[in-house]
Amino acid sequence: MSLADDLATLRASARDRLSAATSADAVEALRHELLGRSGELTMLLRSLGTAPEGERPALGRVANEVRGEIEAAINGRLETLRGEDLERRLSDEALDMSAPGSPVRVGHLHPVMTLMRDLREIFHAFGFEVYEGPEIETDEYNFELLNIPPDHPARDLWDTLYVAEPGSVEAGDPRPAVDGTILRTHTSPVQVRAMRALDLPIRVITPGRCFRYEAVDASHGFEFHQIEGLVIDRDTSLADLKGMLEEIARPLYGRDTRTRFRPGYYPFTEPSVAFDVACLVCGGPGCAACGRTGWMTILGAGMVHPEVIRSGGFDPDEVQGYAFGLGPDRMTMLRHGIGDIRLFFSADLRFVTQFPEGR
Ligand code: PHE
Repeated sequence: MSLADDLATLRASARDRLSAATSADAVEALRHELLGRSGELTMLLRSLGTAPEGERPALGRVANEVRGEIEAAINGRLETLRGEDLERRLSDEALDMSAPGSPVRVGHLHPVMTLMRDLREIFHAFGFEVYEGPEIETDEYNFELLNIPPDHPARDLWDTLYVAEPGSVEAGDPRPAVDGTILRTHTSPVQVRAMRALDLPIRVITPGRCFRYEAVDASHGFEFHQIEGLVIDRDTSLADLKGMLEEIARPLYGRDTRTRFRPGYYPFTEPSVAFDVACLVCGGPGCAACGRTGWMTILGAGMVHPEVIRSGGFDPDEVQGYAFGLGPDRMTMLRHGIGDIRLFFSADLRFVTQFPEGR
């Protein structure tokens, strides 16, 4: 076969192979195979010296043509591939201006927060304002000023989380902080804080988080909420407390909700009471939810103890008042039929998104 035939064959095969290449990499590989230093065209040119002398100039011209053609074909093929690639990408992420947008997830309040806001509204209508206190408290405010001295057996009512004395944990010898820093076990320390800060008449609620060293189960969390209420004035009686609580139960549980007072015990109120509403599940006859009593306790309350009035800087012979503490977590469980308090702090969206009413 003559060199002229070889060149013609290469010309045709280069065209076919290039149009069969489907990626830029494949085209570049062909460039190497065809035009590279030991490529097919180069090899043919090397044999030019063996052709009859008279044919060499013409063959050289054809070889140059073939090289030019192959280079043009390579560039053309690369161009085409780039265009196809762009088209493919455009259709993959096609921008359709008329397509509906993806929905924006709007958050909402946690069901316990919703209930606390509802309560705040109700108490607001009764003239209560919000007065908050710290979650990290001192033993003094959490206990002593509330008529619970150190070593008083009533301390067993509140399993306390103590903040450690700096360095003692690292030293392998954990001790409670000597300044008495603890996590508050209830919102009652704010009773004293409010009395010390505010003028008469005092009418405040304290919504907030509390912490206890609990064996956690379906009805006990180590972290939970309370709303404390405090009314201090010159003539406030247990009858005021009773009337007010009954009025508050109505918007929460319905006009005809039956309620009752029971004797209770707290060191910082005297007398102390528990306030019950007729069981929200069975309505009275008794069921598993109310321990077959027909009643559910929603708060503890009482007349503020004279010692606590004194802690607050007032003379118990001149002023008195009442305090109450209610548990929004339990109330929320009852409101929605939630069986496990641990769900509240589980940070599981599948749980919270079931209660979308609070904005
Ligand atoms: N602080 C009490 C508790 O956590 C509740 C309470 C508050 C009782 C106010 C009486 C008055 O158990």
